[in-house]
Amino acid sequence: MLATPSLTELRQHVAQARAKGLKVGLVPTMGALHAGHRSLVETCRSECGFVVATIFVNPTQFGPNEDFTRYPRTLEADLEMCRAAGADLVFHPETASVYPEGFSTYVDVEGITARLEGESRPGHFRGVATVVLKLFNMAQADVAYFGQKDYQQQLLIRTMCRDLDVPIEIRTCPTIREPDGLALSSRNRYLSPAERAKALSLSKALRMAERLLQAGEKNVSAVRAAMMAVLEEPTGVRVDYASVSDPHTLAELTTPQPEMVALVAARVGTTRLIDNLWISIP
Ligand code: PAJ
Repeated sequence: MLATPSLTELRQHVAQARAKGLKVGLVPTMGALHAGHRSLVETCRSECGFVVATIFVNPTQFGPNEDFTRYPRTLEADLEMCRAAGADLVFHPETASVYPEGFSTYVDVEGITARLEGESRPGHFRGVATVVLKLFNMAQADVAYFGQKDYQQQLLIRTMCRDLDVPIEIRTCPTIREPDGLALSSRNRYLSPAERAKALSLSKALRMAERLLQAGEKNVSAVRAAMMAVLEEPTGVRVDYASVSDPHTLAELTTPQPEMVALVAARVGTTRLIDNLWISIP
């Protein structure tokens, strides 16, 4: 496996792989890798002939009061995980090469970014869309892998690729969880043991929504209220949102439909966590 900060090297290796007729897969990450990221690299490995992972803590997707400076940076361990998961190349560019002096072009995806994460984190999705389009242009991959964990993010990337005719296939892979239900996240390492226990309220609230809706509850407001109650049950959990939405438009639902997505965001202590669950009514 080659690890490089050089765009020229990335392009050379991808061009060589393509010349050999290999399908090129891309897994964008911000590092601090865990088994969720690993599953994306492994899926990419199983479907592609040449596997590129990227590690870049993207400053433009963090708000001024967010955790950009303290975001965990664990490059050596990350490279080891990428190697073990079967990556061929890890691209880890410097910030100054991604955002050179005078950088002034940004991508704004409207509509689906208006609510939820977009509302709670102004500017976040503009930074995500911009860096992901850049990574797509840098790597020239055939297919890119994202996690369902960041549900609104993968929807935004699909929308951007459709709207801007970006020639890449987007694959969304299932959320990897701890055995007790906690969704894996690079931010979980900020949690104290007591906070780690409280953080379970996110996945519990989602399962509560699923249980109620699958049992035939027709009042979606009541479902949201039940999610809020579960989320706020432990002290020190501050909810940003608890939502039952259309999985394609992310419009908030008033009545249940066959396919829905429940989404939650909450601060546990100072750590902001998100989770979601696709809910089907049989
Ligand atoms: P990051 O948070 O590092 O996540 C990288 C990818 O891993 C994303 O597609 C995310 O959805 C996926 N992922 C995270 N936790 C997961 C889990 N528990 N199970 C499955 N997949 C999981 O998301 C970003 O970085 C950035 O916004 C990025 C797209 C790299 C742009 O900077």
